[in-house]
Amino acid sequence: MKRILIICFIAFVMASCHHCAHLQSPDGTISLDFRLDEQGTPIYHVTKDGQLILDWSKLGIVSQEYDLTHEFTITHTTTNTVNTSWETVWGEERTISDQHNELIIALKHQSGLKMKIAFRMYNDGLAFRYIFPKQSPKLLTITDEITEYRFVSDHQAWSIPWLTEYYEALWDKAPLSQKDTMCSPITLELTNGGYAFVHEAALYDYPAQNLYMQDGALKLYLTPWLNQHAQVTSVKAYESLPFSTPWRMLILADDLQELTASRIMLNLNEPCKIKDTSWIKPMKFIGIWWGMHIKTMTWEMGPLHGATTENMEKYLHFAKEHNIEGVLAEGWNKGWEDWRHFSFTESYPDWDMPYLSRLADSLGVEIIGHNETGGNAADYETVLEEAYTYHAEHGINAIKTGYVAPIIRTLDGLQWNKGQSGVRHYRKVIETAAKYQIAIDNHEPVMPTGLQRTYPNLMTQEGVRGQEWNAWSRDGGSPCEHVTVLPYTRILAGPVDYTPGVFHFENPVIPTTRVHSTLMNQLGLFVCFYSPLQMVCDLPEHYMEHPDAFRFVEEVPCDWERSLLMDGKIGDYCIYARQERGGDTWYIGGITDEEARTAELTLDMLDEGVEYTMTLWCDAENADWLTRPYAYDIKEYSVKKGDKVTVWMAAGGGLAAQVRKTN
Ligand code: NOJ
Repeated sequence: MKRILIICFIAFVMASCHHCAHLQSPDGTISLDFRLDEQGTPIYHVTKDGQLILDWSKLGIVSQEYDLTHEFTITHTTTNTVNTSWETVWGEERTISDQHNELIIALKHQSGLKMKIAFRMYNDGLAFRYIFPKQSPKLLTITDEITEYRFVSDHQAWSIPWLTEYYEALWDKAPLSQKDTMCSPITLELTNGGYAFVHEAALYDYPAQNLYMQDGALKLYLTPWLNQHAQVTSVKAYESLPFSTPWRMLILADDLQELTASRIMLNLNEPCKIKDTSWIKPMKFIGIWWGMHIKTMTWEMGPLHGATTENMEKYLHFAKEHNIEGVLAEGWNKGWEDWRHFSFTESYPDWDMPYLSRLADSLGVEIIGHNETGGNAADYETVLEEAYTYHAEHGINAIKTGYVAPIIRTLDGLQWNKGQSGVRHYRKVIETAAKYQIAIDNHEPVMPTGLQRTYPNLMTQEGVRGQEWNAWSRDGGSPCEHVTVLPYTRILAGPVDYTPGVFHFENPVIPTTRVHSTLMNQLGLFVCFYSPLQMVCDLPEHYMEHPDAFRFVEEVPCDWERSLLMDGKIGDYCIYARQERGGDTWYIGGITDEEARTAELTLDMLDEGVEYTMTLWCDAENADWLTRPYAYDIKEYSVKKGDKVTVWMAAGGGLAAQVRKTN
């Protein structure tokens, strides 16, 4: 009897007829209906808990060769159910479960061309992609993808404009109808409660998606190719068959806990392709870096040159003494005078790479290399093997790459970094680096889409208005609110190299610009902002001004067993708890915007019947980001599962806690 019921159920969740099909999430809460309209256009609609989320929305591709937006028939459908789990090499949690129902609709265009659309339904959202099987013709020149999300209401959207250089902007909230073209991802606050996150997964050889509103529907706009005069062309992608587009992903969550816990994007990426991953190590790193941004050091040679052998010795010893696994050095190599031609194998004369590599090795500290390309991806690509051989020979296991230039020069000429050519370049870098056992921290990237599951050596990326803006941005630095938006927007797309940890707020370069936070807010970022390569960004001497606060930075890990959002509101505050990987200790981080507020930490995640000691770093009573950022207290409590600890966060403030088993 039970068996019959299960079969009936499966038949119901994946029903299909000759021109329509139906699919549900494993828990039955999200439903999708697919059909062809009178013109033979593929359309779908989505409900959650019986309420319409997406009205009938169109699907299709336009290429120079075919108009694949109508005149389709369904040839057959196939279904599949997956209920499995997999282990992350590093991540916000060790084990990720992948439970979904899949429906693949095989279509035939009147031209004879075959195209499939694969849908996957998860308990927290859905995804779909276009698949082109091997057939004749062999090539498609894609000029448009007409994918639509026809939301039934004018939801509030958090987004940044689509042409934002390197995605470095403040996020803004407004109804979808008032938004111009946006970068992907966007986060929606749904009118009837709940949240949606619109993004893509598994972007390998295709342009990144952007989103815009037209005729009441949210539509895809693929980043175009540029011609030899760097002008926009009508071409979006050149594809040889067989190929699949990236997954179009829509997370649907009841609350921010569910939204931040969604792992659909990772599940949609291919399993790990690197056989031996033992060399991929999450770590914190300091760097010869902030000094250049506050202009007390320079990248290029001269009296203030930062990356000298002597400075690096100091940083390596500091790292060793303070439990920081790596040291980044920017400006070690030739080319910084004019940014015309960077060498990735020749150091400045005041940098002794062989000696420093031996010293780092003897101290057990990693040197993190730096390859700024000035946007010249083409040059970089031609010397990649040589560059990585050099780094590997010097024991360098991780490299921060950089592409500072509004338009990068790829092997295909001047192109947007999020166009197909840029996407290909970044993938080439990751794949080549993997061969040399080198991890990548990519600055000025294309927006992450979960590739780190397949290539876990892609450890972190920028793609955010990061801390450095607080050193030199003439607008005064990012407002307090900025950091309270990122955990629910940019960071849902993947790990972020935001570079937390400023401990000294007076700005010698632009006195009117500063970090809009208290010291405790900087501590909170180490937990709220996930990155398996986590920079500890300030100067060693600044850390020594507050050694008791720095103790939290020394101890907080950056690889987790479990992570959970304890409380939060987009643009207001965020409180995360994360359990260290392979251990029992929990870390809690909190950050708030310009409003002071009280956080109630409910310690439900602790083990039953065990006594814990909680060390809390919190804003002192009179703390304030502008007037008293250094005012903090350190307290100790004995706590157990279910206890509630009330903590006040100042304006621009935050909190940090370590909760460890008492013996
Ligand atoms: C911009 C990067 O975001 C920053 O971290 C780096 O220091 C500079 N480019 C120079 O490469």
